[in-house]
Amino acid sequence: MSTYQELHDKISSKNAVLGVIGLGYVGLPLAVEFAHVGVTVIGFDVDEKKVSQINRGESYIQDIKSDVLKPEVDAGRICATSDFSRLQEADVISICVPTPLRKTKDPDMSYIFKAVNSIKGELRKGQLVILESTTYPGTTDEMVLPMLEETGLKVGKDFFLSFSPERVDPGNAIYTTKNTPKVIGGITQECTTLTQIMYAHAIDNLVLVSSPISAEMVKLYENTFRAVNIAMANEMVLMCDKLGVDVWEVIDAAATKPFGFMPFYPGPGLGGHCIPIDPHYLSWKLKTLDYDARFISLAGDINSGMPQYVADKTVLALNSDGKATKGASVLILGVAYKPNINDLRESPALDIMSKLLSLGAKVQFQDDLNPNMRLDGVDHKSVAFDTATLASADVVLILANHSYMDIQTIVQHSTLIIDARNATKGIRANHIHKL
Ligand SMILES: NC(=O)c1ccc[n+]([C@@H]2O[C@H](COP(=O)([O-])OP(=O)(O)OC[C@H]3O[C@@H](n4cnc5c(N)ncnc54)[C@H](O)[C@@H]3O)[C@@H](O)[C@H]2O)c1
Repeated sequence: MSTYQELHDKISSKNAVLGVIGLGYVGLPLAVEFAHVGVTVIGFDVDEKKVSQINRGESYIQDIKSDVLKPEVDAGRICATSDFSRLQEADVISICVPTPLRKTKDPDMSYIFKAVNSIKGELRKGQLVILESTTYPGTTDEMVLPMLEETGLKVGKDFFLSFSPERVDPGNAIYTTKNTPKVIGGITQECTTLTQIMYAHAIDNLVLVSSPISAEMVKLYENTFRAVNIAMANEMVLMCDKLGVDVWEVIDAAATKPFGFMPFYPGPGLGGHCIPIDPHYLSWKLKTLDYDARFISLAGDINSGMPQYVADKTVLALNSDGKATKGASVLILGVAYKPNINDLRESPALDIMSKLLSLGAKVQFQDDLNPNMRLDGVDHKSVAFDTATLASADVVLILANHSYMDIQTIVQHSTLIIDARNATKGIRANHIHKL
């Protein structure tokens, strides 16, 4: 029997062991989905703390509850390790490591490089490798494939390789790893087919494309689409401000058009590990081909200017109340990058906080989902969400309106409000300044 047929049978009968490299927001939910359908999963992470937490059945990812993880661990369907020699035991390996940017905004490929290097050391005949991390178009063909073929094994014959981007939206209760369609592009038809059979066990809908580079481009198009459209909504804020028009009213009314329009909403700036970062992977690659991705740079300029816009709006609002920013007490409601999540990565709230601190304001924050954080080398702790805290602030900034934050209480007890999320929708009062 050929290597392909053997692996095909193993995967079809759910006897293939899945190795997941990187047990974060993407890797852990993926591991749990496969364990739920009876696949044995070995999770690999360099973070020993995460490894021991998983082996105790404790989840550190908000969307995965420990009472969902623990039974899978107890039943032996999920275990975690930092011993990468155990990659030998896996028949299918999904790579879910971070892809951040360097300070220069160039892709930081070091995590993918290290993960692929670990696989390279253990690669054997009959393994399928799937890259899930968001990355520049061409990564699977130009970087991952040559590294793995340095072992002397041949893709499509001895081992198999695909790209399948993760689309998970942390905090989204409706669309999860399981019911979000997954795109797959393999190096060869055999690679695509094996990936399809594997993922079909745990994921409802699969979308096949002709190559890894198409699948890489799909992910970057989706996230660039969001970044550009959010930038346009943010530019509407700037334009409506000049015209004295309520941007939220305009967007809501435009959204009643049943075709040809879909609403995007402005905010204090982009955050998270995807939307502010991924488009730069695309523009970086295009720069190497002497092409300037203009929408991406314009969207980046507008979106990255929003924290400054919110800080300026705060300064002006304090001024109109006869107060200087220096010495003013500022309360930030929600430091996460969006409501109802505990993720601070790239959060614009941190940038806004830094800007106001540098102007001499006394800044506190309230966020039950993120009670502790470190900003510019200083530890900060969340204050209580109560009427006294609201009343004692000269200005309250709503940056991530978590659902426990009662809007009526905020409106009633705050002296001055900057609402960057339209959390006070439908409420008009002189002390509320919306974007
Ligand atoms: N977070 C999201 O919403 C989201 C959505 C879609 C796609 N993605 C993409 O998925 C990828 C992973 O993102 P994430 O949010 O899960 O990141 P994360 O930081 O939450 O998790 C990554 C994990 O990988 C581990 N790790 C780092 N280097 C490793 C190595 N060499 N070997 C093993 N483990 C290693 C880290 O310790 C961490 O636990 C990124 O490319 C990201 O762009 C993320």
